[in-house]
Amino acid sequence: MTNRILIYLSLVVLFTACTKSSENNFAEEALSYCHTQTLKSIAQLKSRPDFSYHMMPRNILKNETEWNLRKATKEEWTAGFWPGVLWYDYEFSKDENIRAEAEKFTASLEFLSHTPAYDHDLGFLVFCSYGNGYRLTGNPVYKEIILKTADTLTTLFNPIVGTLLSWPREVQNRQWPHNTIIDNMMNLEILFWAAKHGENKPLYDIAVSHADVSMQHHFKPDYSCYHVAVYDTITGEFMKGVTHQGYSDASMWARGQAWAIYGYTVCYRETNDPKYLDFAHKLADAYLRRLPADKIPFWDFDDPAIPNAPRDASAAAITASALLDLSDFSKDDKKQEYSTAAAEMLRNLYTQYRSKHINPSFLLHSTGHKPANSEIDASIIYADYYFIEAIGKLALRSSKL
Ligand code: GLY
Repeated sequence: MTNRILIYLSLVVLFTACTKSSENNFAEEALSYCHTQTLKSIAQLKSRPDFSYHMMPRNILKNETEWNLRKATKEEWTAGFWPGVLWYDYEFSKDENIRAEAEKFTASLEFLSHTPAYDHDLGFLVFCSYGNGYRLTGNPVYKEIILKTADTLTTLFNPIVGTLLSWPREVQNRQWPHNTIIDNMMNLEILFWAAKHGENKPLYDIAVSHADVSMQHHFKPDYSCYHVAVYDTITGEFMKGVTHQGYSDASMWARGQAWAIYGYTVCYRETNDPKYLDFAHKLADAYLRRLPADKIPFWDFDDPAIPNAPRDASAAAITASALLDLSDFSKDDKKQEYSTAAAEMLRNLYTQYRSKHINPSFLLHSTGHKPANSEIDASIIYADYYFIEAIGKLALRSSKL
């Protein structure tokens, strides 16, 4: 080997080591930031006269500094994210006080395991809280609660359509006989988990059926998704695809697409069926190719007000978390492309979107429900949940390199 080749190889090794170490430092630094913010949030919650372990942080609106709380009820779909944030923070900080808080907030959701299903959000509610709690503690009581909740969720399954009914309340309200929303893809994970841990194959079959039917009807030719797919309850036929939280029926609502990318990535992980991997690639590519330069999407890719439309940091965090897994399952160029994109999204969220001293959340600039003029340019708890989840994945990857 000539000296020149040796020098070249040494430089490549040095460059790779520096890149990995900087990625590692950034992820470790971000986890430490999350821990500091979590401690601030706990202190803020406990200083309030209305403090209770049943009251969950939901959002901090623009120009506010305090969490707005929501009671953990079956209607409050976000109530599992704060316990989930605490579990992740406990996982990375090893702070036993955080674990104690996680246990107490999580316990407020136990009622869901013996309450009839209000809607599909049982997965978000119970898997982000009890699911992470079980993963970290192995508490057998948690396992039973997850299994019972998964059974409850299946009561929404319509075998004629082949999907879960997402919003029973909208059957009458909007005349959407059997409606399935794209967010529901996220709630298949609890079914896959329960099928495995409860030896309950029908739950696996329901999750697969939901994913397959949705794959057939819930997407447009450009691989953007509808928010809502409406089916005929009697014939099972697909009637129409519409939006609820997006700009229009034809547009790409950023968080909806993020749920879809994440959901189909989980389907591949749980089934090993390559059709889900291929589909997740198509959904991710449709999203990635339309991102602005900093890789944080506007709330809807087709809002004509862009570039003066609000961003959605939550969609970026959800997508980054999904892309890190999708990268692990992919080969060659795709593997690199997804992992580089995810790291860039997370780095930009951390450097440009974090709440720092403004408020105790992790991130600013999420959009909840733009058409309803609700939670615009706000800190929202699910953005924090997927941010810490994704940062944790990045830190783990960096430490293994
Ligand atoms: N699951 C409702 C939303 O994404 O806003």
